Amino acid sequence: MQIRLDKFLADAGIGTRSEVKNLIKRKAVTVNGACAAKPEIKIIPDEDEVAVNGNLVTMRGSVTYMLHKPAGYVCAVTDDRFPTVMELVPQNRDLFPVGRLDKDTEGLLLITNDGGMAHRMLSPRRHVDKTYLAVLDHPAEKAYMTLFSAGVDIGDDTPTLPARLVICDSERPELDYLPEEYRVCEDTGRVALLTIQEGRYHQVRRMFHAVGNEVLYLKRLSFGTLMLPLSLKKGEAICVELQ
Ligand code: URA
Repeated sequence: MQIRLDKFLADAGIGTRSEVKNLIKRKAVTVNGACAAKPEIKIIPDEDEVAVNGNLVTMRGSVTYMLHKPAGYVCAVTDDRFPTVMELVPQNRDLFPVGRLDKDTEGLLLITNDGGMAHRMLSPRRHVDKTYLAVLDHPAEKAYMTLFSAGVDIGDDTPTLPARLVICDSERPELDYLPEEYRVCEDTGRVALLTIQEGRYHQVRRMFHAVGNEVLYLKRLSFGTLMLPLSLKKGEAICVELQ
């Protein structure tokens, strides 16, 4: 596969498209030992030897970030009205969010350039667990557990897949993720953990609405085997390895 030299360099993390164009202009880039004349020349990444200031450049392959998404950011590559999650991760690697969290939802969001991984994590057939911490308008009833485990009608063509609900008591370690303003809700039955295996639009909010409650605060704590580290602050991202 052929690729433009400036795209290759940007994808390899050397700099932005305009930064690498500048490097080429300053004659800092060679292809197979010869000075590269233009950013648009085509190279074959697996065959050609590209060097910057004499240092060989290798494709770093795929990269995945775990972002602690803050509320107020939308999960899109660009948006006219709101800041996007892409502003919170390094640029230039053809990254995109793996699925979506609502603008008002916080928590674990993966951002990657690995299409295969994204597909595996999101495929409905794979039933990847996603666990959310929710603060509810009024105490959760035990009956929700049975209703959610059977699947609920949220107005779509089919009911939701079975989901697991835990109503948090004060011993639950997940309460450490509660923001200060919701600490008063501990031990009131208004804090719950819901694990779902789908990613329907507003799914968690709609599931609680379907049983007569409302979600006031929502945070995703885990996605598959990945857990949001307590130490990862809102707006921060770390690189993660996925099998
Ligand atoms: N369910 C929701 O209601 N919102 C999200 O962001 C994710 C799951």
